[in-house]
Amino acid sequence: TVDSSRPALTLLIAAPRGFCAGVDRAIEIVERALAKYGAPVYVRHEIVHNRFVVNTLKAKGAVFVEELDEVPDDAPVVFSAHGVPKSVPAEAQRREMLYLDATCPLVSKVHRQAERLIEKDKHILFIGHAGHPEVIGTMGQVPEGSMTLVETVEDVANLPFTEHDELSFLTQTTLSVDDTGKIVAALKERFPQIVAPRAEDICYATSNRQEAVKRIAPASDLVLVIGAPNSSNSLRLVEVAERLGTDARLIQRASDIQREWFEGVGTLGLTAGASAPETLVREVIARISQWREIDEQPVTTAEEKMVFKLPRELAE
Ligand code: F3S
Repeated sequence: TVDSSRPALTLLIAAPRGFCAGVDRAIEIVERALAKYGAPVYVRHEIVHNRFVVNTLKAKGAVFVEELDEVPDDAPVVFSAHGVPKSVPAEAQRREMLYLDATCPLVSKVHRQAERLIEKDKHILFIGHAGHPEVIGTMGQVPEGSMTLVETVEDVANLPFTEHDELSFLTQTTLSVDDTGKIVAALKERFPQIVAPRAEDICYATSNRQEAVKRIAPASDLVLVIGAPNSSNSLRLVEVAERLGTDARLIQRASDIQREWFEGVGTLGLTAGASAPETLVREVIARISQWREIDEQPVTTAEEKMVFKLPRELAE
């Protein structure tokens, strides 16, 4: 019998969604540091961009700060998954601090590429979003003035370089695959000599999550993305759905959801950004099921098996 007070709702749930290998590793670094050194363990910047994750670690004794000068010399400190400018570990070394680097290995890979390009006297055009900590971290790997930020196709037209300059490009790991492709095409057209990275810098988790949304959005009346407003990869997932003509909303938790959103919605798409834990996905589904009889259908577009090694100090 159909329960008319809870009309049916088809839920297309994206897979992959949620935590990536870099986020898993960063959280584990903080947890193991707490177990090994005891509280407080300081963390410079939100370890990953998710309030729920941050609060859970806070409850276990992590202390979140924005800058190293807020950390006492004798307390352990973890650098967030987004990466840090070179000046940060240098300062920690100078102060003889115990620090652990939770920078995602895929971000570190971009850092090393940047160093190598500078050794080859290339100027780097870095595609990314101004102000994001990953961008600040990556730009801080090279001498000032040797990297120029490019945010849009329009920026490419305004760059003060010619086809004779020694140019290269790199990208942030959590960008829109489609937008970045357009920016890269514009760069190659204006600067045919530009040196491209050997492999795509946008990470596997970012592209897989966007791909999955591309599959669910056209079949959905509404797409919900669980993620934080400062999470680059989560914001991109909302954009991907919207560009396919589907209404999409970014939510942090189940309590953000309003019942009115589901009026006239027969099929709901659901995903989560790389820093959003599965607990929040389950919480969201539980809330919606108060109003609707949910038929949950996973839509799988890729299998992820990536696991990153922990830093040596914590590897036992
Ligand atoms: Fe790393 Fe990509 Fe996650 S760069 S932290 S695997 S979103």
